[in-house]
Amino acid sequence: MRDLRTIPTFSSWLPAAAALLLSACMPHAIRGDHPQHSTPDAHSYANTQQVEVRHLVLDLDVDFSSKQLSGTADLLLHRHDPGAEELVLDTRELAIANVWTSSDNSSWQASAYALDAPDPILGRALRIQLPKDATAVRVAYSTAPTASGLQWLAPEQTADGNHPFLFSQSQAIHARSWIPIQDTPGVRLTYEATIRAPKGLLALMSAENEENAKRDGEFQFRMPQPIPAYLIALAVGDLRFQAMSERTGVYAEPSVLAAAAKEFEDTEAMMVATEALYGPYRWGRYDLLILPPSFPYGGMENPRLTFASPTVIAGDKSLVSLVAHELAHSWSGNLVTNSNWNNFWLNEGFTNHLTFRIMEEVFGDARGMMERSIGYQNLIAAFGRLENPRDHTLDPDITGRDPDEGVTSVPYNRGALFLWNLQQAVGEAEFDAFLRRWFDAKAFQSVTTHEFVRFLKQDLMAKHPEAIDYDSIHAWIHHAELPQGHRVPESSAFAKVDQQRQRWLAGEIKATQMGSKQWNSREWEHFFNALGTDLSRAQLQALSRDLRLTFTDNAIIASKWFEIAIKNDYEPAYPYIEKYLQRIGRMKLTVPLYRAMAATSEGRARAEAIYARARAGYHPIAQATIDKLLAGKPEA
Ligand code: BES
Ligand code: ZN
Repeated sequence: MRDLRTIPTFSSWLPAAAALLLSACMPHAIRGDHPQHSTPDAHSYANTQQVEVRHLVLDLDVDFSSKQLSGTADLLLHRHDPGAEELVLDTRELAIANVWTSSDNSSWQASAYALDAPDPILGRALRIQLPKDATAVRVAYSTAPTASGLQWLAPEQTADGNHPFLFSQSQAIHARSWIPIQDTPGVRLTYEATIRAPKGLLALMSAENEENAKRDGEFQFRMPQPIPAYLIALAVGDLRFQAMSERTGVYAEPSVLAAAAKEFEDTEAMMVATEALYGPYRWGRYDLLILPPSFPYGGMENPRLTFASPTVIAGDKSLVSLVAHELAHSWSGNLVTNSNWNNFWLNEGFTNHLTFRIMEEVFGDARGMMERSIGYQNLIAAFGRLENPRDHTLDPDITGRDPDEGVTSVPYNRGALFLWNLQQAVGEAEFDAFLRRWFDAKAFQSVTTHEFVRFLKQDLMAKHPEAIDYDSIHAWIHHAELPQGHRVPESSAFAKVDQQRQRWLAGEIKATQMGSKQWNSREWEHFFNALGTDLSRAQLQALSRDLRLTFTDNAIIASKWFEIAIKNDYEPAYPYIEKYLQRIGRMKLTVPLYRAMAATSEGRARAEAIYARARAGYHPIAQATIDKLLAGKPEA
């Protein structure tokens, strides 16, 4: 146990914080007393109606040999209910060593606490007895090596292979596996942190980072804007920085850095475009962190520091919409936040709509239409897979389920399609301006679908009474079917791909004559989405050998091709599929391959054999997802 007196106290921090929060350089919407009306969240035990955690001070040691974080979390409280007698926090697999409370933020008294029985999805409530005058709580704890929100990588799992790597993934409810916290998107907090890590490595957080911090084993961080717990993030590794503009840059392992900075050099242009559409970027810097390939997502919008999979570095910028997407979350999600995970489309549907607008502004309408059309195709495919009609709506009920199961194409692409249809009704400029008003009105707040509909009625529908009718709004949100007469995005570039594919399938041209050298990743995706399960051996060989798809460096094209290869049982591809599944942990690319294999009994045995060898290299979240898939549980 470290000497508690050496840890900075709230009282030493608060004057600086207050000054900072009120300083003129900060955006207008940030106030120390930001309004918060927490709505119920079935995925958190926290008693936020009574007490809210407003500030967090983390002090953690990173121990790669034991795969543990250990130290203290100080939580500064705001009471709604002066009579509240306990603070309830979310935890999962945390070992709690001690709990103290304080009424002056400098002297600490040991406090009684208890951990409830663990729930497989929610973890364990930590109940801390709160004296009437307590204003802060300190928890000494350590994480489990199996913490669901952390992945500890051996050197050989990194790009350069020389140093270990750690990264967190807190969304949706994994922050509680590394911090005892009110783990609900319904409340926000500022934070600061001291992180101790092995000398020579760099630690980064979703906070103000020092680009050229000394790698002397100790790092300080400060996050002055209030954020929900799912946006707290940490990474430690052999990382270098390269600037892309005054306010954008990339962190990556040395061998990846130059390619990443080149690929994402348009990030500043995206920021300029997004600010013109939706108002000021309120977070200071925007940097990217390229993670090792086991990162389970394409990207994660950790504020100031998007975490990204190396699979988006295609070499031709064809996957940079991912950056547009994570950047867009700086408005939809990080600034205006879904208040619980049933309202997830308010984060992802809005963000997808913004992504498409940004792509149109920066790269032109044709590119935007390709993105929209792929989104629509993915939505239709998800409708085919999802058995529960309620999961086809923007109002699912995920109570009692893991919110990670709610991450389907529906909130993303039904949400975006809804907003795009509204835009069609009132015009692009009108709709952009409406969204800007929404972000300004709700900045640094958590919102529900109900609040959005109310705003829509009072604002856009009042201005355009003839353009939008309430029944269709209701249908978009609550009905399983898409509303009558909805508009579907169409891409003329994709129409050309269709033509070429048909000519090839009809035997009029060879695969090499389709002109596919000019296709970007999206055109390839479209090509594969319409390929069936009845390809001939010769056709499969043409794709594999003549077009060299088995050997492509583009991880998206590879995944799409391997899915077709599995569905058509093209067995020469299997060794390459296994290699791919050993290397890449991004669920969007791996899960479809396991799912396709598991569709036949022979394939299932193959999937299980490959998974047995690959599983240890996957992130705990990916492990949980594929465990469920191969156990035959119905999918979300
Ligand atoms: N916030 C999500 C990732 C996420 C969602 C993680 C829910 C955990 C729970 C992120 O912004 C995202 O949507 N990533 C996508 C990007 C794509 C749509 C461009 C991904 O990872 O594929
Ligand atoms: Zn997203």
